Amino acid sequence: MGMEKISDSPFGYEVPPLLSNHCDLFKGGRAIDVGCANGTATKWLRAKGYDAIGIDNHLYEDQLPKYIFKADIRTFELNRFDLILALNVLQFLKFSEKKSVFAKFLDGLLPGGLLIIESFTTQDETYNRFRRDNEEEVEPNTFWSPRRNAYASFFALGELRDWAKQANLLEIFYNEEIIQDNHPPVGVHNHGIVSAVFKKL
Ligand SMILES: C[S@@+](CC[C@H](N)C(=O)[O-])C[C@H]1O[C@@H](n2cnc3c(N)ncnc32)[C@H](O)[C@@H]1O
Repeated sequence: MGMEKISDSPFGYEVPPLLSNHCDLFKGGRAIDVGCANGTATKWLRAKGYDAIGIDNHLYEDQLPKYIFKADIRTFELNRFDLILALNVLQFLKFSEKKSVFAKFLDGLLPGGLLIIESFTTQDETYNRFRRDNEEEVEPNTFWSPRRNAYASFFALGELRDWAKQANLLEIFYNEEIIQDNHPPVGVHNHGIVSAVFKKL
């Protein structure tokens, strides 16, 4: 399935198939795009009829639409959403933060609401490099990345599925794979990725 190009943003240049492949699930309501960068997915959700906002702890442009806010998901109060989207953002949180943000997602989601997550797994090339270099594991599968000036954390295979099961979420889609990426400053590299769509019962 081809990707849908909707903006020239540095992140989220294309709408991921994780969204475009599940269009039939999107019925509108209140949505939040966590770690939205300059809002590519937020805009896509709005075009699908959602009253969607985006939050990011770093704003990339001066002139962002009024539905994009500067906020850190670790402290943001999240209430009554029909859809929570967290694409490629949880890997910047350490394990304990990731767990508490996941719990916050559960609380903030209305019954019938969708939780859509994409993040790194331990199949990621960077994870293997941290291990090989004997970098300090500050929390389970979490390292400090000086290059990103942030934590780098990785879901173990099956871990996100287990979290969702424990939370009694319905699994609509779940996939773990290794994909090739190519962007500066690293060039061609492999990412271990988990992508999932869950529904709160
Ligand atoms: C790799 S980009 C992903 C952007 C977009 N979601 C996508 O998938 O294309 C990660 C984004 O998460 C943001 N971010 C990292 N830590 C965050 C936090 N604690 N709270 C909110 N946003 C955060 C970064 O500023 C960055 O814009």
